Amino acid sequence: MAQRAAIVTGASRGIGRGIALTLAEGGWDVVVNYAGNAAAADETVERVAELGRKAVAIQADVGSGEDRQRLVNESIAAMGRIHLLVNNAGITSPDRGKPLLEFSEASFDRVMDVNLKGPFFLSQLVARHMSQTPAEGVFRSIVNISSLSEFAVSVARADYCVSKSAIGMMTKVFAVGLAEFGINVYDVRPGVVASDMTAGVSDKYDKLIHEGGLLPIARWGQPEDVGKAVAALAEGHFAYSTGDTISVDGGFHIQRL
Ligand SMILES: NC(=O)c1ccc[n+]([C@@H]2O[C@H](COP(=O)([O-])OP(=O)(O)OC[C@H]3O[C@@H](n4cnc5c(N)ncnc54)[C@H](OP(=O)(O)O)[C@@H]3O)[C@@H](O)[C@H]2O)c1
Repeated sequence: MAQRAAIVTGASRGIGRGIALTLAEGGWDVVVNYAGNAAAADETVERVAELGRKAVAIQADVGSGEDRQRLVNESIAAMGRIHLLVNNAGITSPDRGKPLLEFSEASFDRVMDVNLKGPFFLSQLVARHMSQTPAEGVFRSIVNISSLSEFAVSVARADYCVSKSAIGMMTKVFAVGLAEFGINVYDVRPGVVASDMTAGVSDKYDKLIHEGGLLPIARWGQPEDVGKAVAALAEGHFAYSTGDTISVDGGFHIQRL
């Protein structure tokens, strides 16, 4: 089997870093994409290298068409072949906390560009590459990182919820459209995970998790929890499943009375 290589968007910090490190532990080389935090991206690269795998940091705003094309070109130049794309990079709503009737188009557009348009067109570019190169015995897939906001309403980050909800349908559309090329597509749906994104609201979630009964599994999710789910899918153990959503949320999605 050929050496396997993955692009993980937003791998400089948080969940993306957790995914990159878990993949590296499983033998993957990793393209560590980031937006602006080069020092954090370099640290992820070093930690992948310590695990004995090749890594390269590539700055690219997934919300920009030009950057997406450059990311794919540079990734192929660095790794030769790409066998896995993890669409992880995402931002919370710039207008988070505003009343619904005051959400701006600027916030909506930015969230959609990064969280939805980016994954859609990056998947297209990477799938084009995959469809034009032989698989060489490697299972190939695209994993989209959505959120419990795919189905749970938070009015305070309305546009974020809408962007994540669309990832569910995007996963199914690509699963059907890419099956003929032997590319499986999955939606990994995290719950409340400790990262910079949730650092500002950690007191609120601490209370909800430890006193409010928010989660059947009463602890914060860790980036590695998401990483392990992605790695399991990317390994090809679910080769006859595509378009599925895997919750990594401590059981948050289960309706309870
Ligand atoms: N944390 C949670 O509880 C949670 C729950 C459900 C879903 N999620 C989803 O999981 C994903 C990762 O979240 P996180 O908590 O790890 O976030 P985070 O700690 O804020 O990290 C965000 C990562 O995405 C990168 N990024 C941001 N905008 C980008 C852009 N335009 N282009 C390329 N990279 C970009 C950042 O790069 P820089 O370091 O260069 O800024 C960073 O690596 C997101 O899609 C998020 O919606 C998170």
